[in-house]
Amino acid sequence: MTQDEMKKAAAYKALEFIKEGTIVGVGTGSTVNYFIDALATIKDDIEGAVSSSDESTKRLEAHGIEVFDLNNIGVLDVYVDGADEVNEYLTMIKGGGAALTREKIVAAVANQFICIADDSKLVDILGTFPLPIEVIPMARSYVARQLVKLGGDPEYRQGVITDNGNIIIDVHNLKIIDAKKLEADINAIVGVVSNGLFAARGADVLILGSASGIKVIK
Ligand code: 5RP
Repeated sequence: MTQDEMKKAAAYKALEFIKEGTIVGVGTGSTVNYFIDALATIKDDIEGAVSSSDESTKRLEAHGIEVFDLNNIGVLDVYVDGADEVNEYLTMIKGGGAALTREKIVAAVANQFICIADDSKLVDILGTFPLPIEVIPMARSYVARQLVKLGGDPEYRQGVITDNGNIIIDVHNLKIIDAKKLEADINAIVGVVSNGLFAARGADVLILGSASGIKVIK
């Protein structure tokens, strides 16, 4: 199985968590693109979706799936999204696609977070993948200096503007021992919109595509 086939297999498995007549929270990325294609096969059985990015909204709408404004939705049963890294506690690093803030917002509303990934994303210790941070543009240098004080090596992601009009700083070499504390400490820096550590709200279920088949970890 190729990595893409593993992503696709995990994405289609996630359909088992979708209840009839519900609105589905949809993340962003190449694995989620497979999930959106999978969702299209049951589009007449769901009410629609809430999307975490302009990119996913476009793909959902191209399939004829209605995309709702999160503000008009009370409760979301399920949110399905990928990850850049995930550990055995289902804590994740996300934001490789720069959609972390909207992903965090939709995930916060959902009762269940289903993470879909190929098995290269499963790690013992988070942090090899640089931690993405969404930052208000005028705070870029200040935030970078504060991140150095936390022990990281910040790098401005050139040429990327988020759907919210902000920039991304990727932080290398962070020692992520207490992920919840680090998530809160980074969020406390003035000018940070959000960071890609999903520790306070991790996943509830991990669907992992591997060469030997699908693993579901809860
Ligand atoms: C986007 C994300 C994605 O979920 C993450 O980057 C994984 O993407 P892919 O499925 O393409 O590997 O957090 O902001």
